[in-house]
Amino acid sequence: MAPVEGFSKLTKEEKIEWISNKYTHNSKETKATIKRYWNTDKELQKLHDEFIENTITNFYVPLGIAPNFLINDKLYVIPMAIEESSVVAAASKAAKFWLHRGGFKTKVLGTEKIGQVHFMYKGDDQKLEYFFNAIKPKLIEETIPITKNMTKRGGGITNILLRNKSKDLKDYYQLHCTFETLDAMGANFINSCLEQLALTLKREALEYSGFNEEEKNIEIVMSILSNYVPNCLVRAEVSCPINELKEGNEISSIEFAEKMVRAVNIAKVEPFRAVTHNKGIMNGIDAVVLATGNDFRAVEAGIHAYASKDGQYTSLTHASIENDVFKFWLEIPLALGTVGGLTSLHPLAKMALDILDRPSAKELMQLVAVAGLAQNFAAVRSLVTTGIQQGHMKMHLMNILNQMQATESEKNTLVDHFRKHTVTHSAVVDAIQTLRKV
Ligand code: MEV
Repeated sequence: MAPVEGFSKLTKEEKIEWISNKYTHNSKETKATIKRYWNTDKELQKLHDEFIENTITNFYVPLGIAPNFLINDKLYVIPMAIEESSVVAAASKAAKFWLHRGGFKTKVLGTEKIGQVHFMYKGDDQKLEYFFNAIKPKLIEETIPITKNMTKRGGGITNILLRNKSKDLKDYYQLHCTFETLDAMGANFINSCLEQLALTLKREALEYSGFNEEEKNIEIVMSILSNYVPNCLVRAEVSCPINELKEGNEISSIEFAEKMVRAVNIAKVEPFRAVTHNKGIMNGIDAVVLATGNDFRAVEAGIHAYASKDGQYTSLTHASIENDVFKFWLEIPLALGTVGGLTSLHPLAKMALDILDRPSAKELMQLVAVAGLAQNFAAVRSLVTTGIQQGHMKMHLMNILNQMQATESEKNTLVDHFRKHTVTHSAVVDAIQTLRKV
């Protein structure tokens, strides 16, 4: 197949014709599927079409809500956008469990964002240091047109450091900049500041009389925010006396508490387990981040880097038993916004923020951290008691029934049947076949 030229200039209909005819096995069916997912509200569809380039349709993910989250003594309902069947159920279960045991307590430990101008400099380190200190006021001054509104509200550039990285990579230096971006995630603000800083740096070096010709010629490689924000940190915690932990008849409270601590300790020392353990945390985090119109890829990248900050990938949650009290907590970096970007463009993101009582970015950090902690508590609790499949397969039953194109009446009968039987893929297939033979 030949490459296509000027694709983005084709109309939406032309793009659909092209993809259906050239890259699918049944073009009529493809076109019908694409159009089935268009919104009948033309204005809303146009809004979604314009989020990205080459939009042909919408890809739905369910938006669910998990009620009964008691966070710092206030009740919340948490909206979650996620396709995995058991996640909202698990969050709700954990919320209910802690509702009667004091709820979740949270704290923001820092809100510092980071961005860097990466550049190459061939010359004397000390001269560069001297030059940097001399031009630092100018660097700040020339960003004022970009920062003045943010500064008025209490944010802005908090510091600029010159970092010598030439031991790691020959001639490599950076301006390492820190920011306070208040309720904005701040990516555009930070990147605009960095690009201005780079321009000033380059120009000032060319004009600096203390440099020789080679030193004057600083090469700007790139200017970009960092999604690693170890000082934009939030903590969420639950705790209760061990004797209050018991629920159900599976195991005693102390046995349960000890198993939870052991499971977390395994994730601390064993990266293979830590990755899956943290994936469970991200089930909760990503779902709220996505529902509130935030950038879940940025959050994922930053959190996983934080999980390896001490040299080995490890658990993001911690658990302890001290003085007969069970404590379970999470500490993660989170760069989130509640203004700007998709948060104010996507009607469902706006609605999700409304459900959360229009939080500030700091409040949203706490709510998201709670969703991660709750998810991890629910997963590890199942793992050390009943096993994960019982709950997972119960939630997955509807997916299998839909795959088998079960009718409403078949679904009712089989959901009832599997209340008393173990759900496996083959057991569901057998049951539906038997039902259809009757
Ligand atoms: C599945 O999406 C998440 C779990 O694997 C997490 C865990 O193992 O802790 C259940």
